[in-house]
Amino acid sequence: MSEATTYNDKVIRQFAVMTVVWGLIGMLVGVLIAAQLIWPGMTLDISWLSYGRLRPLHTNAVIFAFGGSALFATSYYCVQRTCHARLFSDKLASFTFWGWQAVIVGAVITLPMGFTMGKEYAELIWPLAILVALVWVAYAVVFFGTIVKRKVKHIYVANWFFGAFILTVAVLHIVNNLAVPTSLTHSYPIYAGTVDAMVQWWYGHNAVGFFLTAGFLGMMYYFVPKQAGRPIYSYRLSIVHFWSLIAIYMWAGPHHLQYTALPDWVQTLGMIFSIMLLAPSWGGMINGVMTLSGAWHKLRTDPILRFMIVALSFYGIATFEGPMMSIRTVNALSHYTDWTIGHVHAGALGWVAMISIGAIYSLWPRLLGLDKMYSTRLIEWHFWVSTIGTVLYIVAMWIAGVMQGLMWRTFNEDGTLTYTFAEVLQATYPYYGLRLFGGIVFTSGMFMMLYNLYKTWQMAPEKQREVPVPAPAHA
Ligand code: HEM
Ligand code: HEM
Repeated sequence: MSEATTYNDKVIRQFAVMTVVWGLIGMLVGVLIAAQLIWPGMTLDISWLSYGRLRPLHTNAVIFAFGGSALFATSYYCVQRTCHARLFSDKLASFTFWGWQAVIVGAVITLPMGFTMGKEYAELIWPLAILVALVWVAYAVVFFGTIVKRKVKHIYVANWFFGAFILTVAVLHIVNNLAVPTSLTHSYPIYAGTVDAMVQWWYGHNAVGFFLTAGFLGMMYYFVPKQAGRPIYSYRLSIVHFWSLIAIYMWAGPHHLQYTALPDWVQTLGMIFSIMLLAPSWGGMINGVMTLSGAWHKLRTDPILRFMIVALSFYGIATFEGPMMSIRTVNALSHYTDWTIGHVHAGALGWVAMISIGAIYSLWPRLLGLDKMYSTRLIEWHFWVSTIGTVLYIVAMWIAGVMQGLMWRTFNEDGTLTYTFAEVLQATYPYYGLRLFGGIVFTSGMFMMLYNLYKTWQMAPEKQREVPVPAPAHA
């Protein structure tokens, strides 16, 4: 069969496998740093195993390596199937795979060595940041090139979300990384002071909005209807969801900088836009969940669908909590506490990881010409450990966070602080223990997933099969 008449599934298989491998590694590092917060001396003062160096390794590995690989895999799958076209260029697609892996390996080497730009979620030193930009441009060409050569007139809404994610991340990455190099491993940002902080959190928040949200919503809009065997609940709502989400997200960044040197009105602006964000976020969540109306019974037998619906529920929790935390008076309590960490992982474990896991389980057998995974029972187990692990993690951090905030602001009659910092830390330890346990429980599921993927691959009759591109029903 000629290449032009088949899908390019090879690159999807590669990204799918690396999603699970990086997920496992990133989460194991998460477990290690969670343990370090309880036993700070456990890594024997070895500098490259210190908390300060491993923490950015954790965030880079889970967001960019795990989440990024899942996004590449699912967007390439979705854009080909919905456009009835092979990826625009095999060579460029392959470059995105190898280039992205090179970036991650670069991160795994440089971050523990202590080389960093010092900006959260944009830590990579400038040579790696340039490689990220090159890979991203290639990604955009492959994705939008495929849209251009599509055989159907309509562009399915999932592609809108993936497209917005790709374009926005390119802009964010380039603007926030503008820097003057002083050596191969060091550079100075071109911004200074408050402007630097504002650019950083415009980047940081939109990284959440577009990397950790819009891309995964694209995943949701393709895989939830596919797995449920039903059309999306409301196509109209999905369009409203798309435009309102991307219009509002851009303005909410200042909620990361409440009570700082940022002008007051900018802080207020960030707060107002954050509260407005509740509406599109919940609109999207409702659209996803309601896609199951008339097919709720499938949740009983299909753990993959359960992964997706529970992911949407955690998305709803995180996007309710976020707007609340952006209100200044609430932020005065939550900021600097573990409440923020709880919020982050409601989004990261509950939403990002669970929707990705569901999507990979959904596409893996299809890529191999099978109708299901090797073991549904193991997926069932994975579902329960993920859900229980997430709940343990976020409940522990919510309690710890509110407790810390309240203890810090308790005063004696003479105006002195009632609790020392060390006393607050002491009170937090049990919750750190619970979080560590939740993290281990969640991570155990990733081992099950890797095993299940491997066994399914072994079962497949044609491991490198080429799927013909079907003629569209109507162009
Ligand atoms: C088993 C799973 C995981 C464990 C045990 C874990 C643990 C941790 C720990 C201990 C921290 C540092 C908290 C602090 O500084 O007080 C952290 C931070 C973070 N983690 Fe995880 N994590 C896990 C999974 C994930 C996943 C899957 C994602 C993303 C998809 C993620 C994203 C983040 C982010 C963004 C931060 C930084 C939060 C901030 O600066 O406010 N984590 N994690
Ligand atoms: C309507 C949507 C959301 C709003 C308005 C929102 C708002 C907020 C607020 C107010 C903070 C605390 C800032 C601080 O005190 O420092 C925060 C932190 C954070 N949120 Fe959200 N959030 C939303 C959804 C999400 C989702 C879905 C995710 C993840 C998938 C997420 C990931 C994060 C991360 C990683 C941080 C920590 C940033 C840092 O300090 O390192 N958020 N968010």
